[in-house]
Amino acid sequence: MPDFTPNTHTWSRLKAALSVACEDADLSDAEKVYAECGQQHPLLWEECILPHRMKRCVKIGEGTFGEVFSTVNTSGDTVALKIIPVEGSEIVNGEDQKTFGEILHEIIISKELSSLKEKQQNQTHSFIGLRDLHCVRGCYPPDFLNAWDRFDQQKGSENDRPDFFENDQLFIILEFEFGGIDLENSNGTMASLVVAKSILHQVTAALAVAEEELQFEHRDLHWGNVLVKTTKLKTWSFLLNGVTHSVETKGVLVRIIDYSLSRLAIDDLTVSCDISKDEELFMGQGDYQFDIYRLMRQENGNNWSNFHPHTNVLWLHYLCSKLLSMKYRGPGGRGAKDTREELTRFYDNVLQYSSATEALKNCPMFQ
Ligand SMILES: Nc1ncnc2c1ncn2[C@@H]1O[C@H](COP(=O)(O)OP(=O)(O)O)[C@@H](O)[C@H]1O
Ligand SMILES: [Mg+2]
Repeated sequence: MPDFTPNTHTWSRLKAALSVACEDADLSDAEKVYAECGQQHPLLWEECILPHRMKRCVKIGEGTFGEVFSTVNTSGDTVALKIIPVEGSEIVNGEDQKTFGEILHEIIISKELSSLKEKQQNQTHSFIGLRDLHCVRGCYPPDFLNAWDRFDQQKGSENDRPDFFENDQLFIILEFEFGGIDLENSNGTMASLVVAKSILHQVTAALAVAEEELQFEHRDLHWGNVLVKTTKLKTWSFLLNGVTHSVETKGVLVRIIDYSLSRLAIDDLTVSCDISKDEELFMGQGDYQFDIYRLMRQENGNNWSNFHPHTNVLWLHYLCSKLLSMKYRGPGGRGAKDTREELTRFYDNVLQYSSATEALKNCPMFQ
């Protein structure tokens, strides 16, 4: 549960820090969400997503709290719509629906990280771009249900078919740039370990930039939350404390997503999620991912509001092990053996660094 449901006072300070005008200081959580969406009240589905955009939707992913569909926006760009039911009493995928207060957590963090592409001192494009935000009311549109069924037939869904929502059900739609394919679904499709090394470099750089600007910890950076897409760009730049650096892309760009457990601070205001009592999260077995939740808890003593950037390093360690165990299309040419050795050395040494920033500055692989 997010332990930050901004009260009126912190909300207006946060708004000031976010340099967004806050005209009415006395807002309910619902009104705060509507304000974020630029709405006065929930709209109808078809007012937010025009019929021809609905028809073109394809389900591309799912999580416990949301379904994700791709479609095109008004400029013709492909976008990803993350659709999350809120405030209802119906159980969805075995869980209570999020409240407006809880969804504000994901909205604020998505906005902040998306805005890192415009910052003067610490700048990165590697966090997914948030394009638009809506709050709608109504049962699930048939076009989305059709897309849901096609995904279920082709890939199998772990979620409940979202056909049981009533007319008064509320949803938040986060409209993101299309970020590519997540690493879990990229297994076997990427060219070589040389690409894996660039991915790790791009993720480390993004985390370092966000640590410096926002005291950010992702806290859930498993391979479903790292997207990759192909690019013709040879290099990719970022700014760390006012200094420009660049990474060789090796033909791929990374986008980091899914901030449901993330933590950041703006001035002295912390936005975090208190998972101290979420027993299930700490009981997982069978993948190094599940150890990471326990390791994070060991390091922060189960206090999830403070800044412990070493959790980002734990996730880099995990990602390196995943990238080393994935399948690649080709051997990766002459450099492949050297690259495997480099990544193995990274795996053996990265835990000594206190943060992604320290790892970026000191790991021989990134120099
Ligand atoms: N912007 C995006 N571009 C492409 N695919 C996405 C995007 N956002 C989410 N996805 C896909 O949807 C899946 C679930 O989205 P995510 O935000 O991780 O939801 P959850 O919080 O429920 O895990 C991701 O693993 C990914 O496959
Ligand atoms: Mg996810």
